[in-house]
Amino acid sequence: MAALGALIRGDLPPAGNPIDLPAPARAADAAALAVDGYEAVLVDSGTSALALAMQLARQCKPHIHAPEVILPGYACPDLVAAAEYAGVQPVLVDIDAQDPAYRLSRLREAINANTLLIVAVNFLGIRERMAELRELATAQDIVLVEDSAQWFPEPFPGVGLDADFVLTSFGRGKPVSLLGGGVLWVKRSLGLTAAIQPLLSPAEAFRWLPLKVRAFNILLKPRLYCWLNRNPLLSLGETAFHPLSQINALDAVRRNWLSHCVAHYQRQQRRVEAFYDRELPACFPAAHLPASYGAPRRGRLLRYPLVCEHRVQRDRLLQALQDAGLGASAMYVNVLPAVTGVAGKVTVNDALDGAEAFAGRLLTLPTHAGVSERHLDSMMAVIAAAV
Ligand SMILES: Cc1ncc(COP(=O)(O)O)c(C=O)c1O
Repeated sequence: MAALGALIRGDLPPAGNPIDLPAPARAADAAALAVDGYEAVLVDSGTSALALAMQLARQCKPHIHAPEVILPGYACPDLVAAAEYAGVQPVLVDIDAQDPAYRLSRLREAINANTLLIVAVNFLGIRERMAELRELATAQDIVLVEDSAQWFPEPFPGVGLDADFVLTSFGRGKPVSLLGGGVLWVKRSLGLTAAIQPLLSPAEAFRWLPLKVRAFNILLKPRLYCWLNRNPLLSLGETAFHPLSQINALDAVRRNWLSHCVAHYQRQQRRVEAFYDRELPACFPAAHLPASYGAPRRGRLLRYPLVCEHRVQRDRLLQALQDAGLGASAMYVNVLPAVTGVAGKVTVNDALDGAEAFAGRLLTLPTHAGVSERHLDSMMAVIAAAV
């Protein structure tokens, strides 16, 4: 009976706006990606962009023979795939129990003569403590990468880009989605322009891409998404390790769509986020909400993260919201070493207790354009009843 109800009502996806394509024959225009002081390199995925940053960092410091990269203990396994491709050993550092940012004392302890770079992850639009990381990286002569796969860098007052490399992803469910692709911004002062092209393979051709985009847009509709979401053979959204085999340049079709899709993204309202900001503090006062990270760290949110008081509460809430088809998710569910395929590829010198606590208590709510007023009211009712 519940399953029938779900099929009639449908399931909201946890993330993903419909992709708005430009009229055909639009000329490629990289202006949408221009950032002062950086060169934009277009590649086939966010993982490729990160791997390219690591390869270029190796060229900056050839004297480090066994290079290491510091990654957060709770993160996307694609970070490990990028490090493996670039031949850099991932060293995991704990995060805070209520904040996806590094525990700075643990980060300092993890640095040694082999530390080539630190990856500062922007988590769903919550930025790392970039000023502190910049200071640390400069003092220790370490390369700083800002992984912004989950946030499209938008200027907001007083906050600019400062890392040596910054990347974003154009993958499925990302802020600006082209169903694949990524960009790496390389700081011009590093003098790496000539080193970039030799690391890229030619772009692959995608003849069926416009059709794929249309199918994707249709499948975002709750009644259709429900069939995918509840199909036990598909394991939709499950976190898994996928090795990287090649870094390709971005194909011409996606290049032509870029400026249109960036402009479309930037025009979107933050209506759903504003609703959560307004309603959640009263509905779920014990939750740790994005406002607590402070204005300079918070950008537009890809999903709305809230940290529950404990795992039992999170699991109860998640189940209730998922049963009602309201697009809640627990993101990666586990710390990085517990993701299938990752153990053995990462160095863990210290306990990841903050990351464990964060993984066990995090819940995300959808912020995409498909979330209606009716969904929002249902969410608040489910949350109020379950906490
Ligand atoms: C933080 C982070 N970095 C990198 C990536 C990899 O991006 P892509 O899927 O485009 O390879 C992801 C993907 O979800 C991510 O969340």
